[in-house]
Amino acid sequence: MSFARIIGTGGYLPSNVVTNHDLEKLVDTSDQWIRERTGIEQRHIAVEGETTVDLAEQASRNAIEAAGIDTSEIDLIIFATSTPDKIFPSSACILQARLDIHGCPAFDIQAVCTGFIYALSVAEKFIQTGSARTALVVGAEVFSRILNWEDRDTCVLFGDGAGAVILQADEETGILSSHIHADGKYENLLWVPHGVGDGFDQVKAGKAFVEMRGNEVFKMAVNTLGRIVDETLAASDMKKSDIDWLVPHQANIRIIAATARKLKMSMEQVVVTVNKHGNTSAASVPLALDVAVRDGRIKRGELLLLEAFGGGFTWGSVLVRF
Ligand code: ACO
Repeated sequence: MSFARIIGTGGYLPSNVVTNHDLEKLVDTSDQWIRERTGIEQRHIAVEGETTVDLAEQASRNAIEAAGIDTSEIDLIIFATSTPDKIFPSSACILQARLDIHGCPAFDIQAVCTGFIYALSVAEKFIQTGSARTALVVGAEVFSRILNWEDRDTCVLFGDGAGAVILQADEETGILSSHIHADGKYENLLWVPHGVGDGFDQVKAGKAFVEMRGNEVFKMAVNTLGRIVDETLAASDMKKSDIDWLVPHQANIRIIAATARKLKMSMEQVVVTVNKHGNTSAASVPLALDVAVRDGRIKRGELLLLEAFGGGFTWGSVLVRF
């Protein structure tokens, strides 16, 4: 069985930056509250007409270039998003056509903020079993379109963006283990309560927005991420001290710091982008990975722990020899 190795990463953020001070003009909030409670200073927000697949295409092209491959080598596309351009075709199929790739399987995965971890885990299985050799795995979102910009509890937290990796079969190293989980009983702690199921009435009325009981989500996220770190390390017979880099989902700096503490890792070993990107849901882990690969912090041969927690609830982690 082959390993699935990350041979290239890419990211893309819309050029439009919205600061906390900009949000002070929209809702009753303050730069100080947002920084202290979340660590967020700014986020990138897509402009009108700019879609999830637009962002994903740029991130994918950057990953393809970094991997040094031709698009004709890609034989699997998995696209994680909760904000697809259309109900169908899938964002993966739209992206496939944009990249002029034809015939390979292409599908979306919906696991909200854990979407990229789910997608990476599924792609790994395809490569391990020989069903694919070179996979494009993308996480991309325009969460700004499902936010109520009058609700200070949610609108200050999220941003738009896209991240991508190219995975390729490798006989020596790559993803060492991946673990994905879900528990649907927590649906209404974090959800968009409307959609196709209610005939789109509420969507048309402009009421299909993210709703979150932030405090309860926070506690669940911290406890669950601690458990999954232990599960991941045990499966690969590794110790906490073996990990070189934590690449966490970027929801809140306090959740990230609590996970790092459980791992006994210094924040110097944690990739943090939540300050500049906000929570970009499925895009946050691949964007953070790309930032730290491109600025030279993450080097070949190092051990990375990627993890996420999100709506569903869903959660997961991937241990990678880079
Ligand atoms: N500006 C100013 N005040 C605010 C704001 C705001 N933007 N939002 C809430 N407040 C107020 C509240 O009304 C409350 O006021 P009160 O004490 O008078 O009632 C006070 O601030 C404290 O509110 P809390 O909700 O208790 O604040 P908390 O410290 O829990 O922070 C936050 C809220 C940032 C949402 C935090 O709970 C969090 O990060 N939760 C987890 C988010 C997460 O991980 N999501 C998962 C991934 S997202 C996905 O899957 C789509």
